[in-house]
Amino acid sequence: MTVLTRPVLPRVHDAGRPASLPDGRSVPVAQLNNAATTPPLQAVLDAVTAMLGSYGALHRGAGPRARVTVELVEEATAAIRRFLGAPADHDLLFTTNTSAAINQLARLLELGPDDVVVTSEIEHTSNNLPWRLQSAARVVEVRADDTGALDLGHLAETLHGLRGRVRLVAVTGASNLTGHRPDLVTLASLAHDAGALLFVDAAQLAPHRAIDMAAAGVDALAFSAHKVYAPFGLGVLALPRTLLDRAPVDPGGGSIDMLDDDAVLWAPPGERHQTGTWNATGIVALGAAATALLDTGWPAVEAHERALTAYLVHQLAGTPGVRLAVEEESYRTEDRIGAVPFHVEGRHHALVASVLEAEHGVEVRAGTICNHRLVRRWVGAEDAEQARVVAAIAAGDRLASYGVVRASLGLQNTRADVDRLVAGLTAIAVDGPRLSYRPLPAQECYVPDARA
Ligand code: ALA
Repeated sequence: MTVLTRPVLPRVHDAGRPASLPDGRSVPVAQLNNAATTPPLQAVLDAVTAMLGSYGALHRGAGPRARVTVELVEEATAAIRRFLGAPADHDLLFTTNTSAAINQLARLLELGPDDVVVTSEIEHTSNNLPWRLQSAARVVEVRADDTGALDLGHLAETLHGLRGRVRLVAVTGASNLTGHRPDLVTLASLAHDAGALLFVDAAQLAPHRAIDMAAAGVDALAFSAHKVYAPFGLGVLALPRTLLDRAPVDPGGGSIDMLDDDAVLWAPPGERHQTGTWNATGIVALGAAATALLDTGWPAVEAHERALTAYLVHQLAGTPGVRLAVEEESYRTEDRIGAVPFHVEGRHHALVASVLEAEHGVEVRAGTICNHRLVRRWVGAEDAEQARVVAAIAAGDRLASYGVVRASLGLQNTRADVDRLVAGLTAIAVDGPRLSYRPLPAQECYVPDARA
């Protein structure tokens, strides 16, 4: 007889810890907003506690604590490199998050007005605004279909039409809104054939699927530790060392070896771009998360998340009042990560999120979720409606925006979390909110009204 055992996944600190609801009940929190941020792994907290016991100056002096800190940071960096499959001729720059990493890359590339960055309609704003505002390049966006799947034919056409001018293809590795994952090997081959580099925004890919930059041909990549169970204020930019062989875009402490009146001798490329004291705690935390995921093995992590994503989408599809923004079929036929957007008929998206939180202890996110265009398409907002929404938001009413509710999965989730979400949504559809709520337009949310 074959005995099936559930693979042991890394333990998430305090998963399911109870929270008090406004009606006085204490319920375990169903954490379904992992695409925004993840709680720490227990292994991450253990590593941070241990390192802080001997925390010393990193690259800023001698002493036993400094030596231990340097060693721990070097070990963690090696683990992060393994986690990414970073090629030997690539360096890692540590930033504060993915947005900061992409902004740094945009400035490092020194693009001119004749250069083109090809990005896409499904990017998070962090992989759109830096190219428009931190570079002089022309930005061209490749289309996606209504399910949020990138149109690879349009990418190929675009690259062909702009041959010789495209310096970079900058595309998400997994969408924070729809979970769609463009095939990185195909993207790399299209980009390289056009003479461009491929940059991948891996903020949502890194926690959910194995990454191998070298094997896939990814030239540069960014992600955030707070989405990979290590929320200690760290982002990572992995890029070819050759791109760093220039003056830093943020010069300062640590970026030079010698300063004369009229000459600067820069520190080695991998160091000169990381100004000021590094976030050693964040690096050790991320190294511990990377090690825990690698030790567990991606097949176990991916299998858990695939099964739970299928369950989440299927259960939502059968929940009264719920309309999936992306049909179940797309999650069935593609290997999407567990980010699932939906509408609740007749209810404001932000109110649904607030009721789920206050009455059911379920965490989700609501709004346009940094993907305004796709959400606009789903709600069918024509130009007049868009102008009305923009004017209302500009006047301070952020609740005037259209939006969706999004549930997003992590390692710590179980079917019970999904069932709690479905029960909460069913209660909203059948009975409506039990409490009364007042809007907080500036914060784009509702709160239970204590005066009611
Ligand atoms: N990009 C993060 C999210 O999708 C913040 O929630």
